[in-house]
Amino acid sequence: MPDNNLPSWRQDLKSSRKKEGKSPSNRWIQLATVSEENEPRLRTVVFRGWNKNSSMIIFTDRRSEKIGHLKSNPNAEILWFFLKTKSQYRFKGKILELSDNKNYWNLLSEKSKSSWFWESPGKKVNPKVQSANKISSNLPKSDNFVVLNFEIDSVDLLKLEQPIHKRYLWEKINKWEKVEINP
Ligand SMILES: Cc1cc2nc3c(=O)[nH]c(=O)nc-3n(C[C@H](O)[C@H](O)[C@H](O)COP(=O)(O)O)c2cc1C
Repeated sequence: MPDNNLPSWRQDLKSSRKKEGKSPSNRWIQLATVSEENEPRLRTVVFRGWNKNSSMIIFTDRRSEKIGHLKSNPNAEILWFFLKTKSQYRFKGKILELSDNKNYWNLLSEKSKSSWFWESPGKKVNPKVQSANKISSNLPKSDNFVVLNFEIDSVDLLKLEQPIHKRYLWEKINKWEKVEINP
């Protein structure tokens, strides 16, 4: 049954995702943050689902650089591109850490859990501890495990349709408003 409280861009996104098919790569999104030096930083992360109607969930490692960026500036942008529908979604919003993350940890496979116990991401490899990057079982929740909540406040959708491209902008002021804009 359709959820009437869902912002209408969720319906567009759902249809783009459906047409794209079931490959894991369809959940790979690009997350941009602003560094402490005020420079853009971009990386791929996995979309882990929705929190409420308009917040995306992302898992990451507390020791990664993006955590420092988000502490000094919670503003972020996510780009999600769909080849089949030639649709580009640009989501703007703010990212905060969800402190209650135990349920998310419990959903992870043993292989995934293990990666939060590996050596610090982005640091020089120490050949002596490389072998420690292994897969273990029954791991307790790692302190490095971070669940990020990306609360979306604007969505810019560009669809390369024929004969005319289409572009829409949704903004949440009090409620979601949609306007068509020039592509
Ligand atoms: C396909 C793919 C999926 C990824 N998924 C995640 C993810 O869900 N969370 C994450 O923190 N990093 C993920 N990464 C690694 C990031 O792209 C990045 O290298 C890492 O988070 C360190 O980024 P930072 O130094 O900017 O914090 C993924 C990389 C690839 C190639």
